[in-house]
Amino acid sequence: MSNGTSVTPAWLKDAVFYEIYPQTYCDTNGDGIGDFAGIAARLPYIRSLGCNALWINPCFDSPFKDAGYDVRDYLRAAPRYGTNDDLVRLFEEAHRLGIRVLLDLVPGHTSEEHPWFLKSGEAAPNEYSGRYIWTDDWFRGVPGAPYVGGEFPRNGTYMLNFFKCQPALNYGWLHPKEAWQSAMDSPEALATREAMKDVMRFWLSRGADGFRVDMAASLVKGDDELKSGTCAVWRDIRAMLDREYPDAALVAEWSCPWQAIASGGFHMDFYLEHGDNGYHTLLRDGARSFFRRDGEGDIRRFLSDFLPRYEAARPTGYIALITCNHDTPRACPDLTPDELKLAYAFLLTLPGVPFIYYGDEIGMRYQPGVATKEGGYTRTGTRTPMQWSEGPNLGFSDAAPDRLYLPVDSAPDAPTVEKQTGDPASLLETVRALLALRHSQPDLNVEQVSQASGFTNADTFTRNFRTKYGMTPTTYKQTNNNA
Ligand code: NOJ
Ligand code: CA
Repeated sequence: MSNGTSVTPAWLKDAVFYEIYPQTYCDTNGDGIGDFAGIAARLPYIRSLGCNALWINPCFDSPFKDAGYDVRDYLRAAPRYGTNDDLVRLFEEAHRLGIRVLLDLVPGHTSEEHPWFLKSGEAAPNEYSGRYIWTDDWFRGVPGAPYVGGEFPRNGTYMLNFFKCQPALNYGWLHPKEAWQSAMDSPEALATREAMKDVMRFWLSRGADGFRVDMAASLVKGDDELKSGTCAVWRDIRAMLDREYPDAALVAEWSCPWQAIASGGFHMDFYLEHGDNGYHTLLRDGARSFFRRDGEGDIRRFLSDFLPRYEAARPTGYIALITCNHDTPRACPDLTPDELKLAYAFLLTLPGVPFIYYGDEIGMRYQPGVATKEGGYTRTGTRTPMQWSEGPNLGFSDAAPDRLYLPVDSAPDAPTVEKQTGDPASLLETVRALLALRHSQPDLNVEQVSQASGFTNADTFTRNFRTKYGMTPTTYKQTNNNA
């Protein structure tokens, strides 16, 4: 797809992503934590699902106070997962199997232990004094934003982007009002932007295929409702990619395609689980979830929210559709594996780029009781080890159970890849069949509906559906759920 000046990577048309939380995917050296070698060993499995792209959560050097979203060195793999060379080898092995690899870029903040930040906290001005957002007096906070004082010799307080361990990088303010607020085109704000481009170049030149971008909307401070400032930064970064790495892909954690795609130039934007949106109504709305057999669901609650997003994305990009992610409760057990089959059939064939969260293909269950780990809190129950086989630790690791990063699901009927492989009635084989169908039918690829007419609002969708299937989507759902 072209918007006149740039081209969307063609490989996205048939891409199906698999999100890997590296801590808990596969441990090959028995230290209880997943590693790059473990991901590499499982690539044939991932390919066998029908996935041809990965998104790996942050795997860079970090104190891990937010599971790696607190980056201490963007250019160094976290030793617990392996070396930079191991990561490059993973790219190469993935490419041999036809799998692209997106890394996780965290551009809005670093760890409080990043050397840039430690320099910026020094009393004497230096090259990094403008890399973060500092006020100009130890007693002055950042109005309307979380900030920290009293930690460094510098006479000021600094702004946070998320947790206390994550100071905000300085991309400038849309309309600076105070002397300590940089303009977007100030040398220090531009230096931050260029530093982030260099981080991207570093990994792209070593074989990465792009990035999932964390909190992509958060860069420019004091931004307007349209996020004009932040979108301008992203357009500039996208122009760099178009010139230097035109095959690289960017997916935004933004959930606003009018901004992320139409204005910011992202190739894809996640449709995230937010309590008030259409995605929520499908799988995570309790008894009202559309895909619950007993749900009171009405598909128009989804469509009336999704279709305008789809229309906003369509000219230059794609909606990224998730089964779940590392921040969201898994849909199971709220939905049964049988209900998930239909839900996945829907998500994996909608116009958009699907992202399957590891373990969702076997219906791994949210674990409500696990203690928080690395800043996970209620998210931790979604991050437990992948369930491979019937063996110790369900095949995740040879470590003693008390040395695992997180405990495995202890239920006697915990789903595993081993149990489901070869059983056509299983969720795993259903996902394989659905993805095989998607890849074999151009009508089901990402641009499918752009050729169809009348797919412009919920009512025409329902009308067209009725013409094709002889019933409304709701009746279709009930019929299939009870089959
Ligand atoms: C969004 C990430 O998905 C989440 O896991 C993280 O805690 C925050 N951004 C902060 O980086
Ligand atoms: Ca390990």
